[in-house]
Amino acid sequence: MQTIQSLDPLRSAVEALRADGELALVPTMGALHEGHLTLVREAKARAAHVAVSIFVNPRQFGANEDLDAYPRQLERDSALLEAEGVSLVWAPSVEVMYPQGYATNISVSGVSDGLCGASRPGHFDGVATVVCKLFNQVRPDLAFFGEKDWQQLAVIRRMARDLDLVRPYADRIFGVATVREADGLAMSSRNAYLSPEERARAAALPKAMREAIARIESGGEVAMTLGHLALELLDAGFASVDYAELRDAASLEPLSALGAGPARLLVAARIGPARLIDNMAVGGGADRQ
Ligand code: PAF
Repeated sequence: MQTIQSLDPLRSAVEALRADGELALVPTMGALHEGHLTLVREAKARAAHVAVSIFVNPRQFGANEDLDAYPRQLERDSALLEAEGVSLVWAPSVEVMYPQGYATNISVSGVSDGLCGASRPGHFDGVATVVCKLFNQVRPDLAFFGEKDWQQLAVIRRMARDLDLVRPYADRIFGVATVREADGLAMSSRNAYLSPEERARAAALPKAMREAIARIESGGEVAMTLGHLALELLDAGFASVDYAELRDAASLEPLSALGAGPARLLVAARIGPARLIDNMAVGGGADRQ
């Protein structure tokens, strides 16, 4: 496994890997957990080589967010990736990614609006910009993202379609189902911020979501059910609920009732120092974007 930190060696390394078959990219910010390793395994099952990028992207963090506290553990991450048979780790510095004079921003309207786009202004511009750069740097045939960041996946696919990206084509951007802890909490690097007590309370999030979904699927009124869900989280020890919304799974249009197409319940809530997000399919049927 090669670990590369600057652009010229990256270009030659990815050319050499691609000469040997298809190359998949798994973009990450490091602090890897089983969710990331699942993305790597899915990528390995579909491509000859897997590249993983590790870059804590300052442009997707707001002024009062956890950029400085975000865990950085390249050595540990590299050992995990080597054991998974990854061919290449791309770990650029901030200066390599955004050199002096950097001035370009990619902004995807529509799917970026509302949900995390409302509670984290500028976040999805930062994500779209860095992912577009990662795609141009590594030029992968396929790319893999976690469905835990459902809105992020929609933004990236929209960006790939709108910019006519070729490496990867939009239809070769894969979403992988959320990996959960035994108590149902979605795996996230930010779970590490929680104290043991907060971590135990955090399991109320997937539980309350599953209960809300059962109510909506059995005909419960959506707005009332979502209000009840937010109250349950506050009762369980969450400090605030940024949003709890029912959306069309593909377009992310807000829904006030279940329709014919697949729907998604999306929630973001704060507990202790962490802001946790989760999403689940509602109403059965296809639950992929
Ligand atoms: O999901 C993440 O870890 C990040 O948002 C991503 C896609 C690697 C871009 O920095």
